[in-house]
Amino acid sequence: MHIAEEHDRTLAPMRCFPPAFVWGTATAAFQIEGATAEDGRTDSIWDTFCRTPGAVAGGDTGDVAADHYHRMPEDVALMRSLGLGGYRFSVAWPRVLRPDGAVNQRGLDFYRRLVDRLLDSGITPFVTLYHWDLPQHLEDRGGWTSRDTAFRFAEYAQTVHAALGDRVLHWTTLNEPYCAALLGYGAGVHAPGRRDPRAAAAAAHHLLLGHGLTTQAIRAADGGARVAITFNLYPVDPADPDDPVDRDAARRVDGLQNRLWLDAVLRGRYPDDVRADLARFGFDEHVRPADLATLAAPVDALGVNYYSGYRVTGHGGPDRRRAEWIGAEHVRPVYRGLPRTAMGWEVQPEGLTRVLLRVHTEYPVLPLYVTENGAAYDDDPAEDGTTHDVERRDYLRGHLTAVHDAIERGVDVRGYFCWSLLDNFEWAEGYAKRFGIVRVDFDTLARTPKLSGLWYSRVARANALPGG
Ligand code: FCB
Repeated sequence: MHIAEEHDRTLAPMRCFPPAFVWGTATAAFQIEGATAEDGRTDSIWDTFCRTPGAVAGGDTGDVAADHYHRMPEDVALMRSLGLGGYRFSVAWPRVLRPDGAVNQRGLDFYRRLVDRLLDSGITPFVTLYHWDLPQHLEDRGGWTSRDTAFRFAEYAQTVHAALGDRVLHWTTLNEPYCAALLGYGAGVHAPGRRDPRAAAAAAHHLLLGHGLTTQAIRAADGGARVAITFNLYPVDPADPDDPVDRDAARRVDGLQNRLWLDAVLRGRYPDDVRADLARFGFDEHVRPADLATLAAPVDALGVNYYSGYRVTGHGGPDRRRAEWIGAEHVRPVYRGLPRTAMGWEVQPEGLTRVLLRVHTEYPVLPLYVTENGAAYDDDPAEDGTTHDVERRDYLRGHLTAVHDAIERGVDVRGYFCWSLLDNFEWAEGYAKRFGIVRVDFDTLARTPKLSGLWYSRVARANALPGG
């Protein structure tokens, strides 16, 4: 395969990363596995959501996805050939537990094989226990609006830990509980597709309760486990810093997107202003006094997912998508004229430095991992199958520079996981939005590293960014 080498500018000094820095990629079960009805897997809320007319672009489903369930050895070999030292993946709950609560060994065996193969390849597994694929039978009993789901989650997590805990050190309970609660139950743009702010408020607390119960259970079983949670964090700025309406809009969005989750897990309390904003949706009714100590069960690290920042105004009108910002009905994002990705997200690398610095300075100091960062662009592969995705390469370079800036300012960042290894099922956007550093041809399922993947591989091997 031939891809024209870009000329790295070599005049400026290399930016070296700390010695044990983990260079990896991230994926999620539903986005890549396919095989949704194989080996005893049952439906998740995403299988159901995909069958809902109009819910997912193009009527796409996860039935085949990137066929990773069948091509896992090839995918691990690919990571190895790219010289990557870490892999963040998620376990599909409906693959490993049956609706009656019994363990589905065939499903669990897939993850045993994956972990074995990663370790044999010198790649450290980082396991995420929940990346949004709730078993449908639990949704039928209320899903995350039901307190019981938090306890079911901890049971499921213990099953996975019992199977993999002898070989897996790094555990993440939840990926982006914000999206699971607010997009899934508030805006209805993610599974299970509910548009009910009261349900979203309940789900937010029950997801965090599930995180706390799971953290306690894994720690009780395994004193050596390193347990984390991953949040999607954003810098949030007022459109007009002198306008009190815009400043209040920024406060509300910052509260919902960032502080609700960070304060709960790292300080053991919900912010008073967010509690007040959510009071009319019954948030407090779900919070029992003893819960706060559970939510704040000590974690060993924090995962940060970062794509873009927000500038917001409080002078907005109705907007379906922004139904996720419950308690902030007139708040809208204002675009700044920055370049945008195919998702429409503004490219704001310096926001990643700000987010990492904020967590480091405002919360108890913890090791941080950038557990997701990457970009969708409309790739246009050449006839020989190569993808010269200069924009994605530049996006990664800009954001890795931002991570390095944070490290130089004293933030303890231990690793970076590019989203994503493969083009995959991008939730409500289906397969049209490609985030991979490796191209997947969805007709043949062939994998071909893109320019960005080859560039990332060189950075990972060098443990340094080229100068410039
Ligand atoms: C994050 C999700 C991940 C992927 C990226 C683009 O919010 O965690 O699964 O869809 O966005």
